[in-house]
Amino acid sequence: MMQPGEDILLDNDDARLRRAWHPVARSVDVTSTPLAVHLNGDEYTLVRHGDVARAGHGLEDAPFSAIEVIGDVTWGLQEVYGLVWIAQERPVAELPPILEWFDQGYHSGVLTRSTVASAGVLIDNFLDVTHFSYLHRQSFGRSRPVTDDGYAIATTDGRVQLTHDTVLQEGRRNSAGGLGQRRIATYTYWPPYITHLQMVFPEDGAQAAATLICQPESKHSTKAYVLVLLPLSDPDLDDQINFSDRVLSEDLVIIDKMADARLMLSWKSELHTRADRASIEMRRSLSKFLDLCEAAQSAVDQKEVLV
Ligand SMILES: [Fe+2]
Repeated sequence: MMQPGEDILLDNDDARLRRAWHPVARSVDVTSTPLAVHLNGDEYTLVRHGDVARAGHGLEDAPFSAIEVIGDVTWGLQEVYGLVWIAQERPVAELPPILEWFDQGYHSGVLTRSTVASAGVLIDNFLDVTHFSYLHRQSFGRSRPVTDDGYAIATTDGRVQLTHDTVLQEGRRNSAGGLGQRRIATYTYWPPYITHLQMVFPEDGAQAAATLICQPESKHSTKAYVLVLLPLSDPDLDDQINFSDRVLSEDLVIIDKMADARLMLSWKSELHTRADRASIEMRRSLSKFLDLCEAAQSAVDQKEVLV
């Protein structure tokens, strides 16, 4: 039986999530040897008829070997962003455009990690910039507390965009002789579980991007994919992937210890600060998305009753 307040805690096996596209594997990991994957509490087996994964960075039209889901019915399957995606039921939204993926001037890699926390908790953490000073002191070099200085939020059509202009690596000399490295970051969140981070470092004009995409495997398991995207002018892709992996490890130290793996969808039940407005907007956007999924399912159920 449902406990009071239970309905606002979102778990990975919530049936409403069946009406969204979710990643189930990296493209490179799906071969002619059948691969078992998990989504929303269900198991699927993927097999590739050939050995060519779908390319990106302007080469999407090149031929690639198709992937089949063996033995289970899904609404659809697609391969993009270096990932294989499944929609279990007709999705209420298409995948968003990640522009760097379609840019021939970029190269990329996908790293993957697993956690016991839910996909929503992981996305929530990615949008939280206030933890830089205590979780990422080693990697980002940020030691002073992060305030809401340089913090701006915009929302359109379910998309939440956070712009954050701040200084990292505070103890290190920059190219202009001062201390620290200014970073202008734009985080874009699309429900349910995609957040794209685009970064510009004004001092030397460097750019980088990273997209966190989460696969809600089952109640106590989420797979995180980080799509690391760099301009070709920056050859250090492996270094950037290792850096992203380090940052994610720092996050997982806390996330893996969360008392409850589920995401609290209500923005009134937990303490939120001014520097945490992205978390609130993310919850609003995700809640609306889940309502859409529920409405789509109700429409199908009603039609079946009438037939
Ligand atoms: Fe973090």
